[in-house]
Amino acid sequence: MCSIIAYASCNGSDVSSILLDSLSLLEYRGYDSVGIAVLNDSSIIVRKGVGNVKDVNRKHRLEELVGSIGIGHTRWATHGSISDLNAHPHTSCDGRIAVVHNGIIDNYLELREGMLKDHSFKSETDSEVIAHMLEQLLSRHKDIKDAMVTLLRLLHGSYAFVALLNDGTLVGSRYNEPLIVGVVSSANNNLYYYAIKDEEDNRYNDLFCSSCFISSDVLAFIKYTDKAIFLSNGEFFILRPIKDGYRLSIYDTEGNKISKQITQIAWELSSYVIDKGKYAHYTLKEIHEQEYTIARALCSKINHEFITRLIDAKRVIVIGSGSSYNASLYAKHLLARVGVNVDACIASEVRYSISIDSNDVLLAISQSGETADLLDAVRYAKSKGCKILSIVNVNTSSLARESDYFTSINAGPEIGVAATKSFTAQLAVIYKVASLIARENNNYDYSIYYDSLGSAISKGIKDIIAKENILSSIADTIKGVNDIYVIGKGINHIIALEGALKLKELAYIHAEAINAGELKHGPLALIDNSRNSAVIALNVKDHTYKDVINNVKEVKARGGYVIGISDCYEYKECYDVMLNLPSIYDVNTNCNSVDTISYESLAYPIYQCIPLQLLAYNIAVKRDYNPDYPRNIAKSVTVT
Ligand code: F6R
Repeated sequence: MCSIIAYASCNGSDVSSILLDSLSLLEYRGYDSVGIAVLNDSSIIVRKGVGNVKDVNRKHRLEELVGSIGIGHTRWATHGSISDLNAHPHTSCDGRIAVVHNGIIDNYLELREGMLKDHSFKSETDSEVIAHMLEQLLSRHKDIKDAMVTLLRLLHGSYAFVALLNDGTLVGSRYNEPLIVGVVSSANNNLYYYAIKDEEDNRYNDLFCSSCFISSDVLAFIKYTDKAIFLSNGEFFILRPIKDGYRLSIYDTEGNKISKQITQIAWELSSYVIDKGKYAHYTLKEIHEQEYTIARALCSKINHEFITRLIDAKRVIVIGSGSSYNASLYAKHLLARVGVNVDACIASEVRYSISIDSNDVLLAISQSGETADLLDAVRYAKSKGCKILSIVNVNTSSLARESDYFTSINAGPEIGVAATKSFTAQLAVIYKVASLIARENNNYDYSIYYDSLGSAISKGIKDIIAKENILSSIADTIKGVNDIYVIGKGINHIIALEGALKLKELAYIHAEAINAGELKHGPLALIDNSRNSAVIALNVKDHTYKDVINNVKEVKARGGYVIGISDCYEYKECYDVMLNLPSIYDVNTNCNSVDTISYESLAYPIYQCIPLQLLAYNIAVKRDYNPDYPRNIAKSVTVT
């Protein structure tokens, strides 16, 4: 969850400002503390502190460090409190090595214990052990390559790390945490390759580059280069300064030099401008972007094999974490409707709650494609012989690369920590997948609808955004409550779950999704007229409408405060306040069972969650919380 950036520049200028710029793009991965280390002559200078990139830079003047090579880090604390000393980079006793690390070194206590006699540790982190071990190994081994081979043999756990040595060398490795090298060609636009191995396949042994980045996310260097090398688990790199540039070598765990493919990162990603534009926060910008991202997701290319694997599977298990798990529930609902035998499971429960075998197909849903719980479930399912399909936003992610087939949601980089546009894009792709299955099974009623859905939703979103003043005044009314209960029935309950998650993580209010029919089986006991709580009723004009109205009346009879979110005015007097959602299609409200509901209404959740995102955002801002960086969480959760 921490982020790593390293930069070796060709002209020695701007290292600190480029590191800081990249770190601010990576803050979504953790933002407890920040630090950089820069090599100046042969001294490594470290500056670091608690806070976000902007604040730490203001306080410790990180940008003033001068040098040609540097490493940087933003932290999401796992081992040791949030403190200046625990911030990365960590240095060896002799100050000749500085290390940034992401992940958890499981055996760090044991390793540290063995070194206490000769080394003094300054932090409580597991990461610092890497700096001291490298120092110790370098005193024994002839060269850094042998030291790395021994180091990797001794480290247990998950890691991505980069170490800066005071002779100008950068080394690093990864195991179950992402680490990507970005290479910048020389002035005449050529990468000079040593020992070309297979030109057809674009694979090379050592390569010469004029400058080089290493990071946990391509976003950190996409502005400078679109040529990336993805390290596999256990591989390590050594980047050595040579005349007019750097020589990059990559090795396997045994220290054998290996050739790696250079991946041209998708132009879609490189064309994104990562800034807030006219918006106060990334989260708000991303909520507004849904006017386009949902329609774009509905145009995603879906491989025919992807569809047939789902149709042919004995059982499909859909997995995800957090919002992506909520999307999995939507997938379960829709795939079941088109005849797929399907189950949904929280990614971190796969090992513990279900039995799987080689007849099952695992469908993994993830924005980042780097969520450790999810990757662990994927690897577990693979070990049982399952085929892996995935729906991801980051096409170069570990999940995309480890899947047999993946489909992109095409939502573009999502910087706000809370999932917003990625969630609705996931739903849109799931809707399209179910439509394609229906088409494959000759059910044209369903399959035709998705073509016109994008423009209907775009128009509906514009209408909701135009009503933001209503949501803002609802936010004023409920911003002080202790509890919010979000009720919905059928497929709408999935959006209640997602809405409650947004309210928790953005507004820091306890929020719970309740299946509307379950209120009377217990939760009604929590309702009174004290105004310490509020109920949000998701009441769409579908086959659940009248039931939910009855549930709303039960709440009102106990003095509860109810906010209705609905596209139907019929019983509007039941709510204390109502946000009228524009209808995005005409549905028949007389149907009353899942067999008779329209396929169009199955698309409604894609659009229904937008007012809840806006409400959570507005409450957060009114309570003076930064919605882009909610406390204690990070966007890419790469620890289990
Ligand atoms: C909630 C949120 C998280 C993520 C979860 C999975 O707003 O963002 O719950 O949905 O951490 O992340 P991905 O989708 O990257 O696997």
